Amino acid sequence: SVSKLRTRIYEANREAARFFYAKLTSKEGAEGLAYLRNRGLADSTIRHFGLGFAPDERFALGNHLRSRGFTENEMIAANLVFKSRSGNSVLDRFYNRVMFPIIDVRGNVIAFGGRIMTDQKPKYLNTSDTLVFNKSYNLFSLNNAKNSKNDALILCEGYMDVISLNQAGFTNAVATLGTALTADQAALMKRYCKEVIICYDADEAGQKATARAIDILRRAGLVVKVISIPDGKDPDEFIRRHGDKGHAAFQNVLDNSGNDMEYRMQKLKSRYDLNNPQDKLNYLNEGVKLLCELDNPMERDIYASRLSDETDVSKASILEQVKQGMRRKERYRRKNEFSQLQKDISARDD
Ligand code: CTP
Ligand code: MN
Ligand code: MN
Ligand code: MN
Ligand code: MN
Repeated sequence: SVSKLRTRIYEANREAARFFYAKLTSKEGAEGLAYLRNRGLADSTIRHFGLGFAPDERFALGNHLRSRGFTENEMIAANLVFKSRSGNSVLDRFYNRVMFPIIDVRGNVIAFGGRIMTDQKPKYLNTSDTLVFNKSYNLFSLNNAKNSKNDALILCEGYMDVISLNQAGFTNAVATLGTALTADQAALMKRYCKEVIICYDADEAGQKATARAIDILRRAGLVVKVISIPDGKDPDEFIRRHGDKGHAAFQNVLDNSGNDMEYRMQKLKSRYDLNNPQDKLNYLNEGVKLLCELDNPMERDIYASRLSDETDVSKASILEQVKQGMRRKERYRRKNEFSQLQKDISARDD
């Protein structure tokens, strides 16, 4: 049955995690262990996250799982092996990679990410969706973060970001699993915290993803803050660069993090030259658009004051524009609602 198979997948994954960990700490895994230590991970961190090593062979895990009583069907359903082209054998999905087990909030091993140790591609290979795993519904290290006393979660891009943050004492870090943040993941976070601090990579891709994540998290009813890593390109590199002062350095960044509106306004402002009147007007128009998205009138007031200070344009005229913008949005919403209603009615007639 499906429920029996699900149980077997959990069991196969747990056995695989044990296998990978044993390999990492054996002679065969020396390269993997050296790689992780080289990246600044303490052995206690490696153990805490159950990191492992998939040997450079195509039958290692498959043979091991078979010896432990798992059928090919179960191993394939877990996405740990796949049928060879000839169909005569099954091959390991993961080989010659450092392994990151993905564990759900109930403590089940649900999937793996595997990193290649060179600059070959793909850099990370992850478990495809299975009966027990959907990458859009889960977050890396939420099992650890949910026990953190902190009321906020730190949302990163990658496994190594989360692991480095944990090693530096920030156990409330989580990461998406190689996809853009989804509404389901935001809802999942909402069960464990009130506030999410986005800490994506400083590169262009990371900043684009930040803008999208802000919307998704806000819509889930979360308080949103954004961290911009000042030097270095992701949280892992930032912490490593600061060596044994990593905790203090990152805490300092956290303390200086702004909320999502401050982040958006700062980003916006950096695109305009406020000494140029046309630029200033464009900045004001775009700023007003941001204000129109705020439901809370006090919040609108705070940022209208800021816009006014920055541009020397009266707060009253800014708020007047916001009022008009919001009315326009409301009219637009009603119109859409109405045409949807008409569509529903004509659909019913069919
Ligand atoms: N990712 C993935 N597949 C890839 C590249 C990335 O699934 N081919 C996912 C991984 O979960 C990765 C995250 O996206 O952790 C962020 O990607 P990136 O910033 O490129 O990698 P880092 O996490 O910084 O990896 P590393 O520090 O090991 O180079
Ligand atoms: Mn990145
Ligand atoms: Mn990185
Ligand atoms: Mn990165
Ligand atoms: Mn602290």
